[in-house]
Amino acid sequence: MRPRILIARAIFPEVIDKLAQHFDVTSNQDDVLWTPVQLMAQLQGMQGVFTTGSERIDATVLAACPTLKICANMAVGYNNFDLEAMSAAGVLGTNAPDVLTETTADFGFALLMATARRLTESEHFLRAGLWARWRYDMFTGADIHGATLGILGMGRIGQGIARRGAHGFGMKVIYHNRSRLDAATEAQCQASYVSKEELLRTADHLVLVLPYSASSHHAIGAAELAQMKPTATLVNIARGGIVDDAALAAALRNRTIAAAGLDVFEGEPRVHPDLLTVPNVVLTPHIASATVPTRLAMAHLAADNLIGYLLHHKPLTPLNPAVL
Ligand code: GLV
Repeated sequence: MRPRILIARAIFPEVIDKLAQHFDVTSNQDDVLWTPVQLMAQLQGMQGVFTTGSERIDATVLAACPTLKICANMAVGYNNFDLEAMSAAGVLGTNAPDVLTETTADFGFALLMATARRLTESEHFLRAGLWARWRYDMFTGADIHGATLGILGMGRIGQGIARRGAHGFGMKVIYHNRSRLDAATEAQCQASYVSKEELLRTADHLVLVLPYSASSHHAIGAAELAQMKPTATLVNIARGGIVDDAALAAALRNRTIAAAGLDVFEGEPRVHPDLLTVPNVVLTPHIASATVPTRLAMAHLAADNLIGYLLHHKPLTPLNPAVL
């Protein structure tokens, strides 16, 4: 009998076709957002599930779905997985690293530039018909070239942003990370390791690229924002919950920092109402990896993990390999 898998969200038809060559596939092309109870009902009798970052897999789901062997996330982040509970239940988790690194770094840089140069704020002004004449101080922002770029979380995407800043824009790059990079990687990124406090105090532009966990919850809150320069910008392409969005909205309103660019939000797709009322923030709907080739590559990697594990016991990017 062929293994049964569930594709929990709408996905590229070619990826469904590929999976259907090996599995009995139940898909969700109507993209219904299932409640946890509905997800558990859909998972009955399934050996594998193709998830995106929005489906929570925890002890309750696992207990209710004893046939499940693998959850393949089409995302590099996997804070929707309770990995400890998955390991305890003998369920493998996989994610989709590497294939999105450069695309996401491109976007981080785009959001940084849009934020520093007030792109959306000035476009709203133009669209509203308010552009009557040139003025010397109209939408003056901050320079990118030659500025100090701070990066919190120096994994593959952080390193991609560092390389863009250092090599493309002559920025001075500083970073803070759980562990310091080796000397060769630091040299490649032209990045210097500093304490979190120094990072906050000295960065002209601070980009967040760290994974979400209990220990990174509100890593940037009121106290951290207060340490930043009043001219500084903050970009979050990591995860909602790393920034205290209410505290950030207050800092933006009071101009204790100059501007922010946010692709991720606490409790998204809801956005803190105060962020919607401040002008000095660029807001995008969690699209950092959203190019067609990259989203395709992520979907194929998730599919290949299902095929690799359920057919050959060889997943490509396992998160809890002890299960193997
Ligand atoms: C996107 O946020 C991802 O984790 O891939």
